[in-house]
Amino acid sequence: MESKHFDVIVIGAGAAGLMCSAQVGYAGKSVLVVDHAPKAAAKIRISGGGKCNFTNLDVTAENYICQNPHFVKSALSRYPSSAFIELVERHGLEFEQRELGKLFCKERASDLIQILRTECDWAGVEFQLKTSITKVQSIPAGKIQLNATGRYLLTMKNSEGFFEISCESLVIATGALSFPKLKATDFGYQVAKQFGLEIVPTRPGLVPLNFEGKWQARFAELTGVAFDAQVSCNGKSFSEAVLMTHKGLSGPAILQASNYWLEGQPITLNPFFRVDLLAELLALKKSGKSFASWLSKFWTKRMAQAWLEWFLLEGDLANLPDAVLQNYAQQCQNWALYPSKTGGYDKAEVTLGGVDTDGISSKTMEAKNQSGLYFIGEVLDVTGQLGGYNFQWAWASAVACSSAISQL
Ligand code: FDA
Repeated sequence: MESKHFDVIVIGAGAAGLMCSAQVGYAGKSVLVVDHAPKAAAKIRISGGGKCNFTNLDVTAENYICQNPHFVKSALSRYPSSAFIELVERHGLEFEQRELGKLFCKERASDLIQILRTECDWAGVEFQLKTSITKVQSIPAGKIQLNATGRYLLTMKNSEGFFEISCESLVIATGALSFPKLKATDFGYQVAKQFGLEIVPTRPGLVPLNFEGKWQARFAELTGVAFDAQVSCNGKSFSEAVLMTHKGLSGPAILQASNYWLEGQPITLNPFFRVDLLAELLALKKSGKSFASWLSKFWTKRMAQAWLEWFLLEGDLANLPDAVLQNYAQQCQNWALYPSKTGGYDKAEVTLGGVDTDGISSKTMEAKNQSGLYFIGEVLDVTGQLGGYNFQWAWASAVACSSAISQL
């Protein structure tokens, strides 16, 4: 069996893997990136509706979910979004700022992939695509292994058959479970377990929420209709658009809340978060105008009609006691809904949980119990909110790892 050696092997040619490889390559290390997909960075290509929300102007540790909330701080502060913006500006990428500090490519996400590929080319990174890894072995220090000179020996398979490649440093950048149609696998978790690391239980994140029964039927009837709401779940609130679908609810506010939702729990919607609904109702009562006419200015006619069917305000507004209006406003602003389940990994932008960060150095991303083994990007138990935070974690964790490897 043919055998080769590299200083560094990076498994996963996604956002984190490409970023790490280029940086390590610039430091003069020989680097091989291995991926079982035919093309690099499939998720970047489809992200942000094809325009990739590649970072955010305002990134803090509070934008991330991780069992150890301090874990992300070091990497994020050493590689802030301004550093990535500087990189893409150097390559002349045209981008635009949207609401809440989100940055998107102006033309297409593939422009960003091209930048990362160019960086890898300039840094002399080699690629081995359409290749699967069938075995990962660590070679104990001092032990001579036939055909291998490094600390890790990987058995790989491609269309030409099996072969082995060894390396000193092994970087796992294989992402998480979301979007299996884009070749997402649990490979990173398997390697972590092999080397005695724990896995925080995983579940789909940034995902639509499905309903059953009455609400499923009602939302299905209004598929495609959107409205703004403040959506709250487990102490977190997000004020963005909500979109009705044939299975339930989607849209940015729902995706955000889904990161905090657990089965059996409610989410609460307040579509009137921008107004004082009780004050509006009292003013309508005084002026003799109807709530229906007010609502049809607030929303489209279809949405306003549906709302009045769902939340009946019985009787003439002028004759209703203030206490009834108070109750009604309270009900409309605390619309509690019980989703039945999420849309699953097929529809989830990210995966919550992953390799437990207790076993990983927050400075270098190296496994504390296994020298030379690194985990970066989404494979870790780090999940960002919607808004470019997940890519920013991919870039920052990759740079934390590459800085450490570059110094070896
Ligand atoms: P990533 O998934 O990018 O890369 C992993 C690589 O490993 C892949 O190339 C895969 O083929 C490879 N791999 C997996 N298993 C392997 C195996 N067994 N052997 C070999 N190779 C293997 N985030 C954001 O910040 N802004 C956004 O706009 C969006 N939009 C978005 C849309 C959609 C539809 C999705 C699904 C996701 C997003 N995201 C996002 C999330 C973002 O895409 C995600 O967090 C990053 O891509 C994670 O980067 P990684 O490099 O960790 O994994």
